[in-house]
Amino acid sequence: MARRAPLIVGLDVGTYKVGAIVAELTAQGTEIVGIGSSTSKGLRKGVVVNIEATVEAIRKATEEAELMAGCEIRSVIVGSAGNHIKGFNSHGVVAVKGREVGPGDVERVLDAARAIALPMDRQVLHVLPQEFIVDDQDGIKEPIGMAGVRLEARVHIVTGAISSGQNLIKCCNRAGLHVRDVLAGPLAAAEAVLTPEERELGVALLDLGGGTTDVVVVHAGAIRHTAVLPVGGGHVTTDLAAALRTPFAEAERLKQREVIEPRMEELFTFVRRELERAGCAHVLTSGIVLTGGGAAMQQVMALAERVFRPPVRLGVPLHLSGLVDVVASPMYSTAVGLVLHGLKQDPRMRHGDGMRGQLGAVGERMMGWLREFF
Ligand SMILES: Nc1ncnc2c1ncn2[C@@H]1O[C@H](COP(=O)(O)OP(=O)(O)OP(=O)(O)O)[C@@H](O)[C@H]1O
Ligand SMILES: [Mg+2]
Repeated sequence: MARRAPLIVGLDVGTYKVGAIVAELTAQGTEIVGIGSSTSKGLRKGVVVNIEATVEAIRKATEEAELMAGCEIRSVIVGSAGNHIKGFNSHGVVAVKGREVGPGDVERVLDAARAIALPMDRQVLHVLPQEFIVDDQDGIKEPIGMAGVRLEARVHIVTGAISSGQNLIKCCNRAGLHVRDVLAGPLAAAEAVLTPEERELGVALLDLGGGTTDVVVVHAGAIRHTAVLPVGGGHVTTDLAAALRTPFAEAERLKQREVIEPRMEELFTFVRRELERAGCAHVLTSGIVLTGGGAAMQQVMALAERVFRPPVRLGVPLHLSGLVDVVASPMYSTAVGLVLHGLKQDPRMRHGDGMRGQLGAVGERMMGWLREFF
């Protein structure tokens, strides 16, 4: 087809919809040139449970995006969600070789921090440095070149179930797509909607999806907490359908016009407890950002303000040009985040910011999943 410029495609395989976003790298910068979305029927709580239905939804979404962009999509960056995704904090310590911290020391200390006992069926997706400590000096972001004898790293580790990732890759492959990278969905959404100020001051991003609610806490520029809770907007619709004895589709229409207070309040209270349990409630100076399709429900902001302390704001994808009007919906946050991550990793992009590569190396992540395929 017509287009020649390199493309980056983000594919968000959600419980409610599959969304595909195509960005083109041009000499002038990056532009969104295509969007596709289709109803998703093959997932439960963010995890693939029906391969055929998922492949079909992926095909539909990517074909729609191809038509709009006038291109052929061959490879994608995929978001993995579902409540098999788990995040926790860890740390490691090493002795500095020589008297100045070098790249080798940083590599060793990150290896030490990620040396954790994991069940056979899980793998590490991301090792995200929070801070380094050289001797007694803490709060260091870039330790290379500093004098010292002891190097410590505090990190946030995100793990996922190997089989869930494999099934997702399998679905993409069957839809004729090569998977360039797989990211934890919640981190992708954070990449798309949070401002640098919020990341510094402390913020919790809540992605209200159809099958799950994803929570990410960012403070002092680093990820502090990640959780995927197995409750989403679909539960509100199911409740409503049962109470009113209406079909799911009719209940869905009703829900989008009228927020269902008790269920949403329950969900937010669940999230608040999760934030308190994780010891993050006190770092949220910038408050709460709501995104995902559920954030489009009427009055959902006001309801969140009642449960959490304000400020609460709606998060839509930032940092874009091109089809901004279409893509500036909370539903596309994850897909846009996948594109932005792809841009930072792409060797053809020379103007990425300091966050480049923060979500970790592709090779290792993919290897765990591909290991059992060959
Ligand atoms: N315009 C709207 N108004 C109100 N609610 C909406 C609107 N559009 C979508 N929703 C709700 O948003 C939810 C779907 O959000 P989203 O598309 O972010 O989910 P998903 O990413 O497919 O699911 P998950 O992330 O849980 O796997 C559904 O519960 C749906 O009812
Ligand atoms: Mg989602």
